Amino acid sequence: MEKWDKKHILEIKEFDREEIETVLSLATSFKEISQRDVKKVPALRGKTILNLFFENSTRTRTSFELAAKRLSADVVNFSASSSSLTKGETIIDTIKTLQAYHPDILIVRINSSASLSTLAKYTQASIINAGDGKNEHPTQALLDMFTVKEAKGTLEGLNVLIVGDVFHSRVARSNIFGFSKFGSKVTVCAPPTLVPYEFEKIGAKISYDLDDAIKKADVIIMLRVQTERQESSFFPSLREYVDKFALTPQRFKNAKKEAIVLHPGPINWDAEISSSLKEEVHPLILKQAENGLAIRMAALYLVGTRKRAL
Ligand code: NCD
Repeated sequence: MEKWDKKHILEIKEFDREEIETVLSLATSFKEISQRDVKKVPALRGKTILNLFFENSTRTRTSFELAAKRLSADVVNFSASSSSLTKGETIIDTIKTLQAYHPDILIVRINSSASLSTLAKYTQASIINAGDGKNEHPTQALLDMFTVKEAKGTLEGLNVLIVGDVFHSRVARSNIFGFSKFGSKVTVCAPPTLVPYEFEKIGAKISYDLDDAIKKADVIIMLRVQTERQESSFFPSLREYVDKFALTPQRFKNAKKEAIVLHPGPINWDAEISSSLKEEVHPLILKQAENGLAIRMAALYLVGTRKRAL
């Protein structure tokens, strides 16, 4: 029997290797459902899922909604901008109110780290973290690991290079925790203002030189510059950033022939990755989106059926 006893999915930090493998192997079965003519199974019939997005999203919100529907759950979307939060209701009061509808799972994206465990006190539902501030984005790391495993056949012994706005990136943090659990080495590469030393403490190597770091990488994860989280300027100009940290055709030539490129999206072409590399790198990035749906089905299934044996 595969291992699963988690009520919530909050952080990859608290997953062990077996739990990650459980999600990935279940996602493999769920991926097949999306290729069928009738893309639906009754696994979560009768369950109520609320998709609560206090921050913007395209991929994560849509794929969680579709994942819930493909498992036959009832799903309701809530976005902060069209809710009573704009009339002054607090997030905690919102959660207490929504608890009155007896939801089974709350999928939450929120802009502040460390508040999900607080919210968990006001609901009996399971909580799945869909991105909490700069902290973690567990299902993104799981879908990244799934995509890497499909492409490389393994998650062990790889050199994973994460490039860009590491400081503001919950994707970077979750991936560092995830890949490290399989004995892969993670290097983060960015201007010094965008990689605090804290990243060494959580197991990553730090590099400020992409031309050098790219040579050893098996997996290159490019990140968006998160201007919405930057109170001040973290680099002199976008041109200077692009010059040193964008993935350009010239730089990509120095990477291993089999190196793969991922990006969590949304991509700003020519800021993080040259648009001339689009044909080469976009197909795998779109595969990440496809895999995200299967991973989110697995995540919902596991927390939604936790009390039943797998
Ligand atoms: C990421 C996020 O929101 O953390 N996007 C995503 O979930 N696909 C990364 C980003 O916004 O740059």
